[in-house]
Amino acid sequence: MEQHARTDAYSDRYAARAAGMVPSEIRALFAMVARPEVVSLAGGAPYVSALPLDVVGDMIGELVATRGAEALQYGSAQGDAVLRERICEVMALEGVSASADDIVVTVGAQQALDLITKIFVDPGDVVLAEAPSYVGALGTFASYQADVVHVPLDEGGLIPGALSDTLDRLAREGRRVKFLYTVPTFQNPAGVTLTGARRAQVLEICARHDVLIIEDNPYGLLGFDGEPLRALRADDADRVIYLGSFSKTIASGLRVGWALAPHAVRAKLVLAAESAVLCHPSLSQLAVREYLTTQPWREQIKDFRELYRARRDAMLDALGALMPAGVTWTRPAGGFFVWVTLPEGLDAKAMAPRAIAERVAYVPGTGFYADGDGRRNLRLSYCFPEPDRIREGVRRLAGVIENEISMRDTFGGARPGPTRDGVHTPGPGIV
Ligand SMILES: Cc1ncc(COP(=O)(O)O)c(C=O)c1O
Repeated sequence: MEQHARTDAYSDRYAARAAGMVPSEIRALFAMVARPEVVSLAGGAPYVSALPLDVVGDMIGELVATRGAEALQYGSAQGDAVLRERICEVMALEGVSASADDIVVTVGAQQALDLITKIFVDPGDVVLAEAPSYVGALGTFASYQADVVHVPLDEGGLIPGALSDTLDRLAREGRRVKFLYTVPTFQNPAGVTLTGARRAQVLEICARHDVLIIEDNPYGLLGFDGEPLRALRADDADRVIYLGSFSKTIASGLRVGWALAPHAVRAKLVLAAESAVLCHPSLSQLAVREYLTTQPWREQIKDFRELYRARRDAMLDALGALMPAGVTWTRPAGGFFVWVTLPEGLDAKAMAPRAIAERVAYVPGTGFYADGDGRRNLRLSYCFPEPDRIREGVRRLAGVIENEISMRDTFGGARPGPTRDGVHTPGPGIV
C-alpha cells in the first residue's frame, strides 16, 4: 500500500472504495507466463478454438448483413427478449424453471456479480464466501467494501455445519449477512462440487437464517459424468439468485452472462445495469441468440466436456505419477480446476517465481482468500493446454516442489517470497 501511495500522485483523491483495488504482486509474474517456453497451468481461459470458428464467423456475418440495424443498435437494459427465452431453455437442463422476465442479461457473470453487490452491499456488510472462493468475486466484494467471512469447504463442497456455526456466531455478534456467495458445481478454484444432500442442507440453513444465496454456476453444464446437477435455484426461487454465463459453453469473448432473480430484485438489477452501461452489447447478445437457435449447441457442449475430461485425466494421471509424498489435490468431476495442498512448511506464493524460472506457472492459493489464508495451496487449471503440455507442466512443478521440500528439510522452513497481499485484481488472464 505504501509503495502504491508513493508512486500514485492521485492517491489522496480516490474514493475510499478504491483503496481495496490493488494489483496482485503475482500479476507481475504473469507477464512472463505468456512466454511460449512456460507451461501455464494458471489461466482459466476456456479453449474457444474448439468451436467451429468458420461457422460462427459466417453466422455473425450473416447476422450483420441481414439484421444489422438491430444488431448494431442500442438495446434494452434487461437484454434481448428472445435470448432470455433461450436462456430459460439452457437453465432447464439443471432443473430450473424460470420466466424470461425474471432474467437480466449481463456482460458476463462478472457484471452480474458487480450489480448484485452494488444493490445489496453497504460498506462493512458481511458477505459469506467459500474458503477458497472465486478471485473475481472477492475483487468485486472488496471494491464495494464488503467484509468477506469465509466458510470452509471440503471434497463435498461447502460444509453445512460450518455454515450454520458461522451464521450463529454472526447473529450473536449482531452482524448482518447480506448473502452467501457460492459456486456449488465444479468450483473455481477448488474443483469440488456440493453434494445433493448438502444442497438441501445449505438451502435449509439459509432459510432458517433468512440469508440470500448467490449461486454462481458457469461450469454447471461441463460435468464429466452423467446428467447436469440440479441447481440450488431449482429448489428455491425466492432465496436464490442464479448467475449464468456463456463464457465456458460458447465463448468468453462474447461477454454474455445473466442473472435470474426474484422479480423485485430483477427490477433493481435492470436499473443498476442501465446506470452502468445503458444496455449490453446487442451484437454479442444476438450472436448468442442466433447460435442457440441455429447451431447444435448441446453437441458442442458435449465436445467441450470430452475435451476437458481428457485434459482433466492427463492432469490427474500426471499428479498421481509424479507428485512427491505429502502433496494432495482434489479430483474434479467437471469444470476447469484442481486445487493442490502442499506439505507443511511450503509456501505456494514464495514458490511461484521459482516455478516460473522452471517454466511452469500456477496461481498461488492466497488469491482465493480475503483473509491471507491459502499459503500452502495452489490452483492448477487444465482447460487450456494440450494434454502433453499438461503432463510436462506437472512434471516441472513436481520437480520444483521436490526441491522446496529438500530446502525445507535442509534449512527448516519455506524460503521467502513476495509478502504483500494485493490479491483482488488478478486481471482477466487468471480468472
Ligand atoms: C466462478 C466464476 N464466476 C464468474 C466468472 C466470470 O465469468 P464471465 O466470463 O461470465 O464474466 C468466472 C470466470 O472464470 C468464474 O470462474
